[in-house]
Amino acid sequence: MVFRLDPGREARPCPQNETVMRIAMIGSGYVGLVSGACFADFGHIVTCVDKDPDKIAALSRGEMPIYEPGLAELVAKNVREERLFFTTGLAEPAKAADAIFIAVGTPSRRGDGHADLTYVYKAAGEIASVLNGYKVIVTKSTVPVGTGDEVARIIAEARPDAKFAVVSNPEFLREGAAIGDFKRPDRIVVGTDDERARSVMADVYRPLYLNRDPLLFTSRRTAELIKYAANAFLATKITFINEIADLCERAGADVQDVARGIGLDNRIGAKFLNAGPGFGGSCFPKDAIALMKTAHDFGTPCRIVETVAAVNDQRKRAMARKVIAACGGSVRGNTIAVLGLTFKPNTDDMREAPSIALITALQDAGAKVRAYDPEGIKQARAVLENVEYADNAYACIDGADALVIVTEWDAFRALDLQRVRALLKRPIVVDLRNIYRAAEMMRHGFTYVSVGRADSAHTTDAGR
Ligand SMILES: NC(=O)c1ccc[n+]([C@@H]2O[C@H](COP(=O)([O-])OP(=O)(O)OC[C@H]3O[C@@H](n4cnc5c(N)ncnc54)[C@H](O)[C@@H]3O)[C@@H](O)[C@H]2O)c1
Repeated sequence: MVFRLDPGREARPCPQNETVMRIAMIGSGYVGLVSGACFADFGHIVTCVDKDPDKIAALSRGEMPIYEPGLAELVAKNVREERLFFTTGLAEPAKAADAIFIAVGTPSRRGDGHADLTYVYKAAGEIASVLNGYKVIVTKSTVPVGTGDEVARIIAEARPDAKFAVVSNPEFLREGAAIGDFKRPDRIVVGTDDERARSVMADVYRPLYLNRDPLLFTSRRTAELIKYAANAFLATKITFINEIADLCERAGADVQDVARGIGLDNRIGAKFLNAGPGFGGSCFPKDAIALMKTAHDFGTPCRIVETVAAVNDQRKRAMARKVIAACGGSVRGNTIAVLGLTFKPNTDDMREAPSIALITALQDAGAKVRAYDPEGIKQARAVLENVEYADNAYACIDGADALVIVTEWDAFRALDLQRVRALLKRPIVVDLRNIYRAAEMMRHGFTYVSVGRADSAHTTDAGR
């Protein structure tokens, strides 16, 4: 038995077990908290560190700073079983750790769109000040190619005596399905040329696989680029089908059938082919722009990604025009009910949500907006002004001139259409996620507009 000191706890016995790794996770946001809780659930001893004392205090009380299905239960279980700890101080957990993960934010830098690496480099400096013996330092944050070199340089400069390896291990989890994605990943990308670091990373991830090893070892720079290439490719797929949707509307075709028709081809794949109001969220928009900037700096512009970002921006505004057109050309003085605010279901994340551009444009056009979201209202209040928030979907719709469905939460997939029809002042529904069938909506007497479906376009024409 050895004794180990956990933050805020008494020294207590801890079984000496080579398969149990000690992990310090810097940053307890979406990625840090989910990764930390999942690593703990696999049996590792994890301390999540955050510089935000309120976040750490809330986590210590069992309150989650984000909404993610299953996360509160996973955290509670691993705290109870003494594998997951929270603190604001890095020194103790870093000293005990085999691997120190950096999972801090890398937002768009104001002004130029490059990834803002301030938090990453600050974390690197903090790690340098507490290094004691060989450590594997793992960048889980999404960082531009070459950032690992700079992290290594910062640490080596501050601590020429230190023995360490800097590894790139980008995270691919999706908000709303984060725990499942983390526990059953398609692949785990580990970028390092350091043999010892590879072995530590294999131990860290060993519990995640039984007979199939999803570890992909690459160079550090390659791993950094894989993350951006993956996000840019997925953003491209979404934008591609959105443009095809526009064509379908004009040409009298159905984008859902087109998506199915191309998605059944294994070379294309069915996922990320749902036409809608454009991509948003904490990653795709900022990562697409950061990749553009990096590519530019290297003198190899990524024209496709540049176009994807521009087309997507235009699309968010175009959705407001779609709503205005459905309302007969003007929304001045109208009340528009908006269902769904978060950038996708099962999250409370409002970062770059399409609802923001849509609602702002509707307000600019003179509409009053009333909105409801199952989890996102608290976050929405911080980014949207002059919106009236309802307690449920039907209260949101009551007396409105039109209903717009922006996020496809389960709760909006089977609305009582008769009740919706009775509550709306005018029977106009704009379904930006293609949840409903045009024929069914027409049967209930709605003017129904969806995305990329010819029948909905005809319905609109008829309704005008
Ligand atoms: N959110 C996602 O779905 C997702 C998915 C894959 C990758 N990523 C990437 O992961 C990274 C983190 O994203 P996120 O959404 O978890 O961010 P986040 O903003 O939710 O969390 C970051 C946390 O880091 C903390 N922090 C910053 N500097 C710190 C420091 N020096 N010491 C301790 N804590 C510090 C902040 O207080 C914050 O709580 C980003 O690079 C992002 O692009 C995010």
